[in-house]
Amino acid sequence: MKKGFPRTGPLWVGLIVTVTLITAFNSPEQEQFLSPGGDREMHEGMACEQCHQETPGTLRQQVQANVHHWLGFRESGVGFITDPVGSEDCQDCHEMPGNLHPIHRFAHSEYFELREILGQHECSGCHDHHSPVNVVHSMTFCMHCHETWGNKPDTITPRHTTLIAEERWETCLQCHEFHGSRGHQEPTLLSEAFSVEQIQQYLDGNQPAPYSGKLPKYPEERKSQR
Ligand code: HEC
Ligand code: HEC
Ligand code: HEC
Ligand code: HEC
Ligand code: HEC
Repeated sequence: MKKGFPRTGPLWVGLIVTVTLITAFNSPEQEQFLSPGGDREMHEGMACEQCHQETPGTLRQQVQANVHHWLGFRESGVGFITDPVGSEDCQDCHEMPGNLHPIHRFAHSEYFELREILGQHECSGCHDHHSPVNVVHSMTFCMHCHETWGNKPDTITPRHTTLIAEERWETCLQCHEFHGSRGHQEPTLLSEAFSVEQIQQYLDGNQPAPYSGKLPKYPEERKSQR
């Protein structure tokens, strides 16, 4: 008989991955090695379980529920070992009460198409913990929603209407915060704003934010732990 990759190969690979993950969650000193982002991540050194919460029930119950789901006896499966991470996990630490762009506002049907390219209805549409960058989109993404100015006060130099007509979308974050957490006071002259380079360095995760004002102190531990 020819020797090759055994038919049970995939089974073994699966088993090894599972054992590695279980080991990771049981030995916090080792876990960083197993993270997809390595040692350069948005929240450096944060424990996995702050976001990856254990799925309730024993492993046996989880396997049983999923097998029943595959066999069609159950409406839905359950998480396996850990639940998927969603915006509600982020909001357990980031309440952001004065958020100028809260995700719930962008869950409506008029924004459905935009979801595909921007993912503005979820934190993970713009942020990826397992990456060194702070924001995954180009700084020009304001263009998707602010192409019409209407009759709002427009006292800056150059005018908002001019910047929009000339598609100078890289200027928006030079003056404005996105969530507004720091209460940064926008200048009225573009010549007094932060440089595009400064903003890019911040979005890339290389420099702290240049905006004035202090961030609220976000908790190091989430409020509801399973
Ligand atoms: C600040 C929140 C956060 C922390 C802390 C965190 N993760 Fe994640 N992780 C996520 C999100 C969000 C995803 C993508 C959604 C999902 O798959 O649930 C993810 C996905 C993953 C994936 C799936 C692969 C992928 O790239 O989608 C693995 C594996 C993983 N994380 C391992 C870890 C390990 C190991 C740690 C601890 C060293 C850790 N994570 C810490 C938020 C976090
Ligand atoms: C356990 C609490 C906790 C959870 C959960 C958490 N964060 Fe954070 N986050 C923090 C803290 C504390 C900071 C402050 C800066 C730091 O320590 O990196 C922060 C900073 C940030 C920053 C700014 C990074 C920077 O360098 O300016 C972003 C963006 C962010 N978090 C997004 C998220 C997203 C998206 C999720 C969900 C996947 C999430 N956070 C989950 C506590 C948390
Ligand atoms: C449509 C894109 C987008 C979405 C969706 C989004 N963010 Fe952000 N976020 C940004 C941008 C751009 C910045 C950088 C500009 C700034 O600091 O104001 C930022 C900065 C942050 C910061 C650091 C500055 C601050 O205001 O605290 C945190 C923390 C943060 N985001 C958390 C979140 C959380 C939590 C969610 C989901 C509830 C979320 N973001 C959803 C685009 C987004
Ligand atoms: C998914 C759509 C969407 C995106 C993308 C978006 N915005 Fe907005 N923004 C809104 C909506 C809706 C409002 C509230 C109504 C308004 O003032 O137009 C708003 C309000 C604002 C306000 C006024 C906040 C206040 O009340 O004082 C500023 C400033 C702003 N956005 C800047 C930005 C910047 C800068 C970007 C890009 C980094 C951006 N927005 C991206 C939808 C969006
Ligand atoms: C030179 C700094 C500067 C730049 C660049 C800038 N803004 Fe503003 N923005 C302001 C100031 C200051 C205000 C307050 C109203 C005013 O004085 O015009 C404002 C107000 C706003 C408002 C709220 C209007 C209202 O009253 O509801 C929105 C929305 C907005 N800007 C979006 C943008 C977008 C999108 C861009 C990028 C095309 C941008 N801004 C570029 C400084 C700036």
